[in-house]
Amino acid sequence: MQIDIFTLFPQWFDWLREQRHVANVLAAGSRIECVDFRPHTPLSGGQVDDTPFGGGAGMVLRVDVLDAALRARYGVDPVELRERRRVIALAPGGRLLDESLVAELSREPELTLLCGRYEGFDERILEHFASDVVSIGRYVLSGGEPAAMVICDAVARKLPGALGDERSAEEESFSEALGGNPEYPHYTRPAEYRGWKVPEVLLSGHHERIESWRRERSRERGAAQEQGGGAG
Ligand SMILES: C[S@@+](CC[C@H](N)C(=O)[O-])C[C@H]1O[C@@H](n2cnc3c(N)ncnc32)[C@H](O)[C@@H]1O
Repeated sequence: MQIDIFTLFPQWFDWLREQRHVANVLAAGSRIECVDFRPHTPLSGGQVDDTPFGGGAGMVLRVDVLDAALRARYGVDPVELRERRRVIALAPGGRLLDESLVAELSREPELTLLCGRYEGFDERILEHFASDVVSIGRYVLSGGEPAAMVICDAVARKLPGALGDERSAEEESFSEALGGNPEYPHYTRPAEYRGWKVPEVLLSGHHERIESWRRERSRERGAAQEQGGGAG
């Protein structure tokens, strides 16, 4: 997979590339490349943003700047580009990222992620250049870079060779194996610590009982999360 990230802070992603599972997929042939869009601006002095029409605080990323940067990278009109590959603008009001969207994105051969800053994108970037607008949650970050990293991290986990043991991804939170519920609790040694005991069933060696206990805890967590709570 090839992931291109349009950002004003490309150096942020150096750290991401070094993380074990990301490094594993890069070693297996995937690529994560950053495009700093400031050098592509047609405006003088490296300008990429401007004041909002209608007034208000902050600065807005200009549509002509993203147009120039996308054209420079792909050699086509960005309006056509989104017909050929997923161009994902990151924005708090976008489609909420969840495991099914991560799985969908992990099947794409190429992704482009657009990281906003300041007050965000001129709306015409979302309307005409993006194939998708994605949010990683109902809160506001200072920039799209952490959101792009979340997508890269979650997508990379699903690529072959990412994890030391491929079985780790088969039965984890929100997987089909768990009916879309969060994973059950885990425990390891010591079996008792400060009076806190590991559930007896996990020490029983009885595989069916363990399996059914885990499924039940997973379902409980799913129900708790549905109601706005959650654990683990
Ligand atoms: C300070 S935010 C802009 C917030 C915008 N003025 C608003 O109120 O919705 C700057 C950039 O951070 C990114 N961002 C912030 N929160 C995000 C979220 N929850 N998910 C995805 N991207 C986010 C977007 O790229 C956004 O353009």
